[in-house]
Amino acid sequence: MKDRISEIVQEAKSFSINSKEELEAFRLKFLVKKGLVNDLFQEFKSLPPEEKKSLGKELNEFKNEIQNIYNEAEQNFQSEASATKKSVVDLPPFFQELGSRHPINTVIEDMSAIFERLGFSVSDGPEVEDDWHNFSALNFPDNHPARDMQDTFFVDGDHALRTHTSSVQVRLMETQKPPIRAIMPGRVYRNEAISARSNCFFHQVEGLYIDKGVTFADLKQTLYQFVQEFFGKNTEVRFRASYFPFTEPSAEMDIYLGKETESDYRLTKGTGWLEILGCGMVDVNVLENCNIDPNQYTGFAFGMGVDRIAMLKYGVKDLRTFFDNDTRFLNQFSSL
Ligand code: DAH
Repeated sequence: MKDRISEIVQEAKSFSINSKEELEAFRLKFLVKKGLVNDLFQEFKSLPPEEKKSLGKELNEFKNEIQNIYNEAEQNFQSEASATKKSVVDLPPFFQELGSRHPINTVIEDMSAIFERLGFSVSDGPEVEDDWHNFSALNFPDNHPARDMQDTFFVDGDHALRTHTSSVQVRLMETQKPPIRAIMPGRVYRNEAISARSNCFFHQVEGLYIDKGVTFADLKQTLYQFVQEFFGKNTEVRFRASYFPFTEPSAEMDIYLGKETESDYRLTKGTGWLEILGCGMVDVNVLENCNIDPNQYTGFAFGMGVDRIAMLKYGVKDLRTFFDNDTRFLNQFSSL
């Protein structure tokens, strides 16, 4: 029996336990009821009492040894499993840099939301525009200075980078039947000296409302409503008579910022008033150019500068910083 014991111990020690399956095979071979250890215990039962005496201790030690081999291997597997689990949990999280909405887009979206509530839809048009949509249909005379190379980036003889979003008005009137009530946000380009206050491209939100019986009172009311919602209930507003080829009569609208703070003083050139838009009643010639009968329909239009409003909203002092793409600047808007 002694020989059997050391034989089985040898076998157990050299048993390869490298996987859970092998661990289970070990258990089945040695430790279950019909396993080798129990076999010996069965044999032991039938030994004469004096042999039992001398072998009992040895047999128990043998059983413990086999059990220990099993326990040790089992524990190794468990700590291995929890070690891999632990390392996953302890891994520092990947730092995923979140993009942010550009502040100019945020302003455009805020403006659009107000006009959408007033029943305006949102449209857009191409940035490379032909002469007809950017100038001729909008009643610009042939000799208008905006048609000059000095003011406009021409792409070829008939195409330029649009100088205003008013070109999209024409596209809408040409393709839709009144009533038309839409705003048209977008980027526009002008050949201007670049400074803290002006850039060679900027952004506008154009507005157009064509229907039967639209009057200047509707225009004023719509813009008042916008200003109250965007700039606050008590914002002071003034209209100044102005001129645009595509509207008659035409006006510009200013809001009162005051001149107490240095930046208000600078933005308003010391007057306290900031011009935010041009507007007017759509010129009869423009309606006719777009095949809309001016005897049936009237309408108003407006074009707002977005960038200045964004400067105002965020206290940005230099327009150019919006487009430098310096992430130190842009990251400040990441929670917006
Ligand atoms: N297009 C003009 C500009 O860029 C702004 C403007 C004025 C748009 C009057 C309009 C308008 O629709 O009616 O300065």
